Amino acid sequence: MSDNRVIIFDTTLRDGEQSPGASMTRDEKLRIAKILEKMRVDVIEAGFAIASVGDFESVKAIADTIKGSTVCSLSRALDGDIDRAGEALKNANSGRIHTFIATSPIHMKYKLQMEPDQVVAQAVHAVKRARNLIDDVEFSLEDASRSEFDFMCRIIEACIDAGARTINIPDTVGYAVPDEFGRTVGRLIERIPNADKAVFSVHCHNDLGLAVANSLAAVSNGARQIECTVNGLGERAGNASLEEVVMAIRTRKDILGLETGIDSTQIVPSSRLVAGVTGFPVQPNKAIVGANAFAHESGIHQDGVLKHRETYEIMTAQDVGWNTNKMVLGKHSGRNAFRTRLEELGTIFETDTELNMAFARFKDLADKKHEIFDEDLQALVSDTKTSAYNECYGLSSLKVTSQTGETPFAEVVVVVEGQEQRAASTGSGPVDAAYKAIESIVKTEASLELYSVNAITSGTDSQGEVTVRLEKGGRIVNGLGADTDIVIASAKAYLHAANLLLSSIEKAHPQV
Ligand code: KIV
Ligand code: ZN
Repeated sequence: MSDNRVIIFDTTLRDGEQSPGASMTRDEKLRIAKILEKMRVDVIEAGFAIASVGDFESVKAIADTIKGSTVCSLSRALDGDIDRAGEALKNANSGRIHTFIATSPIHMKYKLQMEPDQVVAQAVHAVKRARNLIDDVEFSLEDASRSEFDFMCRIIEACIDAGARTINIPDTVGYAVPDEFGRTVGRLIERIPNADKAVFSVHCHNDLGLAVANSLAAVSNGARQIECTVNGLGERAGNASLEEVVMAIRTRKDILGLETGIDSTQIVPSSRLVAGVTGFPVQPNKAIVGANAFAHESGIHQDGVLKHRETYEIMTAQDVGWNTNKMVLGKHSGRNAFRTRLEELGTIFETDTELNMAFARFKDLADKKHEIFDEDLQALVSDTKTSAYNECYGLSSLKVTSQTGETPFAEVVVVVEGQEQRAASTGSGPVDAAYKAIESIVKTEASLELYSVNAITSGTDSQGEVTVRLEKGGRIVNGLGADTDIVIASAKAYLHAANLLLSSIEKAHPQV
């Protein structure tokens, strides 16, 4: 690898999943991992294997399947975590164990309740144990940006001696500013005697909106790996966004003198997939992947772009995968064409029943919508898998009446464990009426934290994709539903969220 190559380490499936309500199934994670591989991400952090049985299975499925990217599992600096990560990665073509411990005075004193000497000993032990299982070991100093410089030098040197090949400097709480952070990374590389035996990496959180700037400052000072997520998903305000990091490195090669191995045309498709699967929509003005990122509203801009594109555009929409949107299937497409296109998009149907259910939905959609795009297919698959796996509540029928001057009214039939139940309600609008009727059946007693509708493609016949976030007793779930009728999409999303609330997923959080 050349000296100016920056390794892109994607942690959408691990840190991204730590966003409240963003939890993903094994199957969804596998779909995302496939598109990340296609995008030529160097390292995919597939999860935290010890967190739950589901996490272990997701990491294992990704390690078993993905051959073009290194697959990584997070583990605390604990024997049980490391062994579980090693087990999940057993069949990986190229696997990595990423182990970490906190190094800041505040974390060591209050969270770990350990002396600095004990922290160094535990970190070294963890790295050695991981190296006995796998060659590629990464060590992270949690809360590095609030850690003492001399202590960082000491623990990093010891961990490189113990066999760590990558040393990660996280700005765990999003506290750093670019100049200071870049200089710290540069000084670490300069001061630590065995620094040349490891790749230095950074992992920045976005609490001050500086995650991408801090990551770029670090690579300008010698770091050669950036940890990031699609759409900047992640704990609290998120992580450095992959698309922004990659396109900044590419667009400002003149200044940074660096490159990545990413196929940037997969950026928009992966952004859409992640948004669809997690229910975290992308804000329209989000750099690179927002709907307005390449839209020129003002007359002056439009005129300039028409005369000479570079007057107002620093990269093209095609570079990042916009406008690759083509009509892929229609009413007369057969099951084979449907299956093949979805396989190209990363979805493999494990059973004929699953394929048949999705194909039946496709035919229904094709009756209502003339042109079916990749985005429609992706939404359809998420919707089919959602209803296939969460069986307690299903939507049987919904009738709403909404008329100027009249109170909106909804009548709903929900299948509850195979039995139909009916309810009706009025509301301030048709969605409100439908939700009140559904709630009188499912009785989640949860609070509605977010309701959002996104048009999946353009045109008034577009499918609406609805996200509903429910909160109950501190637990947050995101329900998704798609349909050309947005009231039906809304009802599906509410029932999906209600089903998720019923499932009790016990999962350890790595940093708590
Ligand atoms: O933010 C952080 O410090 C992390 C580590 C586990 C790498 O996510
Ligand atoms: Zn993090």
